[in-house]
Amino acid sequence: MEMQDLLNKTHDEKRQGEAYAPFEADPNQYKKRFYIESYGCQMNFSDSEIVASILNNEGFGATRNFLEADLVLLNTCSIREKAEQTVRKRLTEFRKVKESKPGLLIGVLGCMAERLKAKLLEEEKLVDLVVGPDAYRSLPMLIEEAETGQKAVNVLLSRDETYADISPVRLDSNGITAFISIMRGCNNMCSFCVVPFTRGRERSRDAYSILAEAEDLFSRGFKEVTLLGQNVDSYYWVDEQKDEVITFAKLLEKVALVSPTLRVRFSTSHPKDITDEVLHTMAAHENICRYIHLPIQSGNTRVLQLMNRTYTREWYLAKVDRIREIMPDCGISSDIIAGFCTETEAEHRDTLSAMEYSKYDMSYMFFYSERPGTLAERRYEDDIPEDIKKRRLQEIIEVQNKLSKESNLKDLGKTFKVLIEGNSKRSEFDWYGRNSQNKVIIFPKKDYTLQPGDYVQVKVNDCTQATLIGEIIN
Ligand code: 5AD
Ligand code: SF4
Repeated sequence: MEMQDLLNKTHDEKRQGEAYAPFEADPNQYKKRFYIESYGCQMNFSDSEIVASILNNEGFGATRNFLEADLVLLNTCSIREKAEQTVRKRLTEFRKVKESKPGLLIGVLGCMAERLKAKLLEEEKLVDLVVGPDAYRSLPMLIEEAETGQKAVNVLLSRDETYADISPVRLDSNGITAFISIMRGCNNMCSFCVVPFTRGRERSRDAYSILAEAEDLFSRGFKEVTLLGQNVDSYYWVDEQKDEVITFAKLLEKVALVSPTLRVRFSTSHPKDITDEVLHTMAAHENICRYIHLPIQSGNTRVLQLMNRTYTREWYLAKVDRIREIMPDCGISSDIIAGFCTETEAEHRDTLSAMEYSKYDMSYMFFYSERPGTLAERRYEDDIPEDIKKRRLQEIIEVQNKLSKESNLKDLGKTFKVLIEGNSKRSEFDWYGRNSQNKVIIFPKKDYTLQPGDYVQVKVNDCTQATLIGEIIN
């Protein structure tokens, strides 16, 4: 993969910024149209589905064509400077559209809305609406205000908003896989990270509403749900009727019991919080996928301390050992930051060796980008020159490429249960699916009795660095 592609790669597999809509809404049913683009993490894509539901109730139907829209929304990301630059560029483009369509409202949602607040309205005059991640219920009111030319801003963060009662409208759905948000916010305060400031305090969603959403999806033909949160292992909800504490492990089990043919995934796990109870629950249920996203960030204990990750190199590597002990076939992936404040060459090499030890199947890799207001910005100097950051990142990418290839080569000759998600992007004669370890497998359709949502046994007989290639066996 090109360096630039990897630098652009963010924390999800969705296409950044791509507009999507469930359907071209019926003009008789909806008096107005909205167009939405999402950037950043899976949580943002999931939030856009809540926003779509709120807007549907207000008589706004989705459109894939912004020229048809009365309302254009960008659900934004602040995690790195580059993410914000992309959105600013896009806003300038929409501003031009508005010149020939004065009634058009442009809104910024998500983390940039929260971080920049009214600045976006006042100094830059780029937008009409600014709505933070906990304020989506007020969108209808804010739209009305903006329609009368007032400044419409709500960036209040909440201690209890989880949108538990809102049934998301599935956008750009393949009808087979879906996200379920189980908690919001983050209390971890990793020193490089802006998320605790833009998404607020951590809170867990009512377990019954999560189960109801999973059951509803399954009854509509969905076969895989991914439980989403910034730190899913700290999920904690008290069932007051039964006087029972629901931990993440308990929740995982309850969702797995919806049906043995419903696959369950989750993201993201913090190495300090993932418990043996979670690992044993995974091992006990075939339909909980053998895959853990376990971000290391750095392989050096001193740097991890500066990052406020609250674990050491040894603790992290022991966690990897524990996962492999309980589930020898479990896939593991990571997030890695190159060139954090004061990182030395030797400390950078500790990251490379930790990667080798952990044998990641894949990683999301970034160079450090200082974010205003974070602990690192206030405490440490961003002192690693950009060329060194980029060179270290390139070394990290090369190690990961090698590990991904090795991991795929090990799968040659093995047979996996694969959930068919749809056509391969390259050919309508091939299926696209994933195995439990979250690896993509492409294989010829052979006969035409199968369809998306079916499980098949696929034997791997070839691979690239990113994909397994196989054939259906009976
Ligand atoms: N600079 C670079 N990468 C960052 N991440 C979070 N904040 C920053 C930053 N300031 C990465 C971390 C995190 C992922 C979502 O993004 O690796 O796990
Ligand atoms: Fe950011 Fe750390 Fe929370 Fe992840 S766990 S969202 S990196 S503060």
